[in-house]
Amino acid sequence: MEEEEEQSTKWRFKGSEELIKASAFTIKGVVSMLSKNLSEDDNRPVIRLGHGDPSASRCFLTTPIAEDAIVEAVRPAQFNSYAPNVGILPARRSVAEYLSRDLPYKLSPDDVYLTVGTKHAIQIILPVLAYPEKGWEVDLDGLRALANDKTVAMVIINPGNPCCNVFTYEHLQKVAETARELGILVIADEVYGHLAFGNTQFVPMGVSASTVPIVTLGSISKRWIVPGWRLGQVVARGDSGFELVKKH
Ligand SMILES: Cc1ncc(COP(=O)(O)O)c(C=O)c1O
Repeated sequence: MEEEEEQSTKWRFKGSEELIKASAFTIKGVVSMLSKNLSEDDNRPVIRLGHGDPSASRCFLTTPIAEDAIVEAVRPAQFNSYAPNVGILPARRSVAEYLSRDLPYKLSPDDVYLTVGTKHAIQIILPVLAYPEKGWEVDLDGLRALANDKTVAMVIINPGNPCCNVFTYEHLQKVAETARELGILVIADEVYGHLAFGNTQFVPMGVSASTVPIVTLGSISKRWIVPGWRLGQVVARGDSGFELVKKH
């Protein structure tokens, strides 16, 4: 009887076909599909370049400083209530102060929006155009050829994943000038900032904020080896005439 009733009920809710289709294609899905298709007869070692989780190996542990900071924040029960959507002021202030150390200007806490890791930051600032690569740099002519009047932004990942390429200051400036020429904003995923290998020093895209509007994404996942703690940020500087980006 109960089963019959259930069958006759016409539920008003259902998943959106479009969203289900769009979310079915993920990088993790592609990586897992490739792994499943590896030949068992092939003994060559496989290096998983797309891993991205520094904590997966026990030889990479975060520091007691980070753990103690979490415990100290949790114990006095001061932060158990709902936080503002943009994050609490002391945390935004700390992020602004930290990122300002590498910039020729001072970020304010109002330039910072805390997120649930960089993935969430990316969802907020939806990638509109992936950058074409040439060697280890952005193919600027390719970018010009790809962009059209519907293009509003480009995305760069610096330092890069999985191959760790780091863009020089001079190249970042060229990227900024090209974006300006195209009238588009630059979204810089810097989740690996300060985890740069090799000889090129990491320089944040924000150094070119006087040339072009820049939205920078990052988190504590990689540098502090704590991807499960889920804390990231979107940073957009306020005085470059693109308050609109921040509002939306
Ligand atoms: C380039 C890049 N951006 C963002 C992320 C996700 O970072 P988060 O843990 O902060 O969401 C990763 C994770 O592998 C990544 O490689």
